[in-house]
Parts: sequence; structure tokens; C-alpha cells
Amino acid sequence: MRINKFLANSGVASRRAADQLINDGAVKINGRVCSLGDDVDLANDTVTVKGKPVNVVKKYDYYIMNKPKGCVCTVKDDKGRKTVMDLLPPSAKRLFPVGRLDYDTEGLLILTNDGDLTFKLTHPKNEVPKTYLVKTEKPVSDEDLQKLRSGVYIDGVKTKKCNVRLIETHKDGSKLHVTITEGRNRQVRKMFEAVNNNVDFLKRIKIGDLTLTGLNRGEVRQLNAREIDYLLNL
Ligand code: URA
Repeated sequence: MRINKFLANSGVASRRAADQLINDGAVKINGRVCSLGDDVDLANDTVTVKGKPVNVVKKYDYYIMNKPKGCVCTVKDDKGRKTVMDLLPPSAKRLFPVGRLDYDTEGLLILTNDGDLTFKLTHPKNEVPKTYLVKTEKPVSDEDLQKLRSGVYIDGVKTKKCNVRLIETHKDGSKLHVTITEGRNRQVRKMFEAVNNNVDFLKRIKIGDLTLTGLNRGEVRQLNAREIDYLLNL
């Protein structure tokens, strides 16, 4: 990044005032006085202004993926299975998945190197709603719907109230939208097990209002500025 832009981005001075500081010989890159056209390597260079170090404003990367089933949400799998990292472009290798989707679950996954956003989206106290499309092995009764909505016991702990919308039901099973604000291990699958049913298909379709629109199974893209802003302000 050009040195004057770097100084402006770091909040040291306006672009014009930064030019003046550079012309005055007040700015050094790695201990050497720099000139106007010099570039800064954000990862490796040290910049000082009047002897004081300037902190690099780290730019984070944010990706959205439509995770297919058959891959794990870890950076490396000790069993050698395919991971979500294998689906990323080579330029995006130092990212981490935000939370987990099971090996057999598909859908919306965010990957970033922004630890604060990861914490925000995954910490239960923030209650970020996550919506899943669920297809069950057997029809879900009205009574089961009420139980799922008001909370069922998983490993001795009751799930929080959640939103369960029945889309359709027939003799071979039901299709539902389930919105939960917790993120317990295999929560949706276990909720249905708690009402003596099984999940045949599970896909996360929303985090907050963020959806997978336009992203086919297995595809990944960078989030745009509006989407990043939305998540950071959730
Ligand atoms: N609930 C599950 O059971 N599995 C997931 O991957 C996500 C939520």
C-alpha cells in the first residue's frame, strides 16, 4: 500500500498532511526515511512517524460458502477427510470457519480471520438466529411442533424457545424451517431425536438475514461491504 494511503488509513493524518510529513522526512519505513512514492508491505514493514510506530490496520477477509455435505468444518482433519478449506481459492487459505456444520449438513458457512466477528456469531449470549431447512424421516405432529418450539431435553439440558415453521408434511416425512439462537453440538438433529424422529436432510439457509442467494452447492465468494457491515453490526 502507498505510504500516504497507509498513514491516512491508520488515522495518523489526512492524505495531504501525510504527504507533508513524508516530505518533512518525519516518516520512516524500517528505519529509513521514505519518500512519497514508497509502498508499505502491511505484513512485514515497520513504519514510524517522528520516531513513533504506526500500527497496521489489519484488513480482514470474509467469505460465504454453500457447504456441501461430505466435508468437515475444520482447517485440517486428522482422518484425512475433505475439509471446507479445500473449497477455498488458494489466496484464502488462512481463514477459519465460523462455527461448525456437521459432515452431513450443508449450507451457509462464513469463513474469516476476524476473531471478533467469529466470537460475536458463535457466542450463545449474542443469540444470533440461524435458520435451517429440515427434512424428517417421519411426519412431525402438531404435538411435536409444540414441544420443539418450547424446548426439548438434549443431554439433560432444555433447548431454548425457538421458531419452528412447518412447510409441508406427508406420510414420508415433513419439511420445516427451524430457527435457533443457540449452537449446541448437532442441536437440530438431536432436537428431532428428542421427539422420536430423525433428520434426513439438513441445510443452514440463513444467519440473521444473510442468505445463500446465488451461491450453488460447493461455491464460495467474498462477502460484499454491505453484508460485512450487516454482520459486524448484528
Ligand atoms: N444442527 C445440527 O444438528 N447440525 C448442524 O450441522 C448444525 C445444526
